[in-house]
Amino acid sequence: MKTETVKCCCQNSEDGEKYQEIANIIDLYKDKKGSLIQILHLAQEIYGYLPLKLQKFIAASLEIPLSEVSGVITFYSFFSTKPRGEHTIRVCLGTACYVRGGKKLIERLQEILKIQAGDTTNDGKFTFEIARCIGACGLAPAMMIDDVVYKQVNVNKLESILSKY
Ligand code: FES
Repeated sequence: MKTETVKCCCQNSEDGEKYQEIANIIDLYKDKKGSLIQILHLAQEIYGYLPLKLQKFIAASLEIPLSEVSGVITFYSFFSTKPRGEHTIRVCLGTACYVRGGKKLIERLQEILKIQAGDTTNDGKFTFEIARCIGACGLAPAMMIDDVVYKQVNVNKLESILSKY
């Protein structure tokens, strides 16, 4: 196990272990072309999200500007700089879903979850996001919870869908 590039800025031992794991991944990937996205993916898997201090750590370890790291994170919607919920709800607002009631699903979910799109519930259970087409246009409106796609979602069924999680 390589450890030479570890410059840990952790606050507790759990954080320290995660940073160590991420440092090991950086060692493995840093000489490979185009490895930044791969490193960020794995870092998000390990840490759960990509806060600024972790972005700084990755930039310093790779000897690249912080702006390069944060630029990639901002560009790709699958990267998150805030803690995420246990489950991710994505409601489609692509054209087909929009005209068939996607907006109503969003309004109702905001009421049920008591958060706005882009946020995570206080209990850390759900992160709620808006998506642009999830490939179920023929059966709109559609939404996803983690990897499960729900098609022709009726606004009245949302509570029973959420209760499964
Ligand atoms: S527009 Fe919603 S699934 Fe395609």
